[in-house]
Amino acid sequence: MDTYVLPKNMSVSDREEIWKSIESFNPKEKQLLANRIVAFRSSHDSVPYDVMRTKMLHQMRANKWTRVAIVSPSQGAGKTLTSVNLAFSLARQTNFYTILLELDMRRPSVAKTIKLTDECQFSRVLSGENPADEHLRRYGKNLIFGSNSTTVRNPAELLQGTNAGKVVDGIEERFKPDIMIFDTPPVFAGDDTLAFLDQVDCVLLVAEAEKSTIDEIDKCEQELAARTNVLGVILNKCRYLGKHEEYGKEYS
Ligand SMILES: Nc1ncnc2c1ncn2[C@@H]1O[C@H](COP(=O)(O)OP(=O)(O)OP(=O)(O)O)[C@@H](O)[C@H]1O
Ligand SMILES: [Mg+2]
Repeated sequence: MDTYVLPKNMSVSDREEIWKSIESFNPKEKQLLANRIVAFRSSHDSVPYDVMRTKMLHQMRANKWTRVAIVSPSQGAGKTLTSVNLAFSLARQTNFYTILLELDMRRPSVAKTIKLTDECQFSRVLSGENPADEHLRRYGKNLIFGSNSTTVRNPAELLQGTNAGKVVDGIEERFKPDIMIFDTPPVFAGDDTLAFLDQVDCVLLVAEAEKSTIDEIDKCEQELAARTNVLGVILNKCRYLGKHEEYGKEYS
């Protein structure tokens, strides 16, 4: 596996140069919107993600945390959509550098969601087969995605091995992002997510309105809290909103 060593006193322009060296992609806004990606520009629709971003950053900065995993008890709650929209929302802040890494290799969907047509397989970076730069893609100046075009046979082993931690450390060391977001597989689908939690500072729990049960959310939160810091719960896909929850997502 490649090891990345950078001098401790790396300047802002050094970071810009390293980010520029990553191949970029430029999806059409219309295509992103069709996939419910709305936070790449400021609009009424981006507001819930922007509010979530601000609350999340507030807590993370206060604790000097830089790594957050987006998790849910079961599948389809909206982890990927939330991760990607949050990443785009963060990237609208100039000089704030965001990396989103996809750890869900059972049902990878980040590439499809962001309309990335290049063949990329971040799992090959996690396994140590390829250097990170080969499978990372940049959007604009300050947002990098590590995504997967296809599923892999051994997703749990990839996240449980010590290599995954080393790879993430190496990426952080090389790119010096302000934040790293991890899109994960459902907590109760296997042991992939729980095994990886040692590598993150905190998690955001996505629950699906009218589908995730209170019991399920409670159990999931307990499992998470035993391993890391739970920033909050996002109630996603709300159809009926109270007076103060006018945005379809409630992050408490
Ligand atoms: N707030 C929302 N409003 C409408 N549709 C949504 C919302 N959030 C997610 N979806 C849709 O629900 C589906 C599942 O979302 P997503 O892929 O983000 O979930 P996931 O938790 O990542 O699923 P998986 O467990 O399979 O990885 C997608 O079609 C997505 O566009
Ligand atoms: Mg997903």
